[in-house]
Amino acid sequence: MDRAVVLARHPEGAIGEADFAVVEVPRPALQDGFFRTQNRVLSLDAGFRQWMNAGAGDNYLQGMALGDPVQSIVLGEVIESRNASYPEGTIVNARTAWEEYSVLDGSDLCAPLAPAADLALTEYMGTLGPTGMTAWIGLFEVGQPLENDVVVVSAAAGAVGTVVGQLAKASGCRTIGLTSSAAKAAWLQSEVGFDVAISREADPDLAAALHREAPDGVDLFFDNVGGEVLNTVMGQLRENARLVLCGAISQYEDAVQPVTNTWELVTKRARMEGFMFSDYAERFPEILEDLERRIRSGELKSFDQQYSGIESTPRAFCDMMHGQSRGKCLVVL
Ligand SMILES: NC(=O)c1ccc[n+]([C@@H]2O[C@H](COP(=O)([O-])OP(=O)(O)OC[C@H]3O[C@@H](n4cnc5c(N)ncnc54)[C@H](OP(=O)(O)O)[C@@H]3O)[C@@H](O)[C@H]2O)c1
Repeated sequence: MDRAVVLARHPEGAIGEADFAVVEVPRPALQDGFFRTQNRVLSLDAGFRQWMNAGAGDNYLQGMALGDPVQSIVLGEVIESRNASYPEGTIVNARTAWEEYSVLDGSDLCAPLAPAADLALTEYMGTLGPTGMTAWIGLFEVGQPLENDVVVVSAAAGAVGTVVGQLAKASGCRTIGLTSSAAKAAWLQSEVGFDVAISREADPDLAAALHREAPDGVDLFFDNVGGEVLNTVMGQLRENARLVLCGAISQYEDAVQPVTNTWELVTKRARMEGFMFSDYAERFPEILEDLERRIRSGELKSFDQQYSGIESTPRAFCDMMHGQSRGKCLVVL
């Protein structure tokens, strides 16, 4: 029997492994127009956490139902096909679920992929996948960095954050990463290349730490966290600052906090803008080419934490949500 990870109960507060169950599922027959993938790599994305809550669902995605395989972005290989556009052997990137095998019809962010022979397949679920696209689009399209800008990145040690920090640095910016522990902050500086890293452990007063590291203020804030972190950075802006709202992970497991300090946006002539990476799908080939070039030249490094086997998925997701992983969190099947 094939296996999948289903949502066993709607999480309340901090997610735990018991919110999921690994189950055996039958393998359905293929209808015309469909194909079956054997999934190779599962992407663990913080953003999906909010659609696990009871009553979740919005204009972007439906809330996840109990007993259904957990939604996820996946890299798979077509092993059986009744769809001429996806012959056997095609590698595809798709939004499907935490399952060993998926039945797809080519819709829902599904696209064939031609992975380069000199790059690891797992790269295409990290820096060269939706994570890298999100970092690139958020930074360059929304944030529009200028040389010498002071760029602050929250959740800097995570999947999106590690890519944003490197891209901003390569654009001639001074980069400041925010993270939880002093050990992760040291890693952000020594391995990922942030100019400065501020941890909640060593610097519980973020406003004071930012004032120390960026006394003239922040030009660009790439925010993955929201809540108090956003409010604090909003109080330390330079004129014409840009605030890129990529995510709000501090709000996914907790009560939503009000946004304060908006008056600062007025006096600093600042722009705050949210985005969804999937709206830029027509740009993906061009962005992929740019990211591949940066990896090959050594300008961009990929950081990931890999788990093995479908049964490790609940633990991997909880580790990622609670800061136990560094860089992109992946499950290799
Ligand atoms: N807009 C889009 O199209 C798009 C696409 C993909 C992802 N996203 C967003 O990008 C963000 C990052 O996603 P990701 O998948 O790359 O995850 P990630 O950054 O790899 O992992 C999440 C990290 O967030 C930090 N964190 C967790 N709870 C926190 C809290 N309460 N306060 C501060 N930091 C907290 C933890 O690191 P520390 O140890 O540093 O705390 C954790 O490891 C998420 O907000 C996600 O929703 C947006």
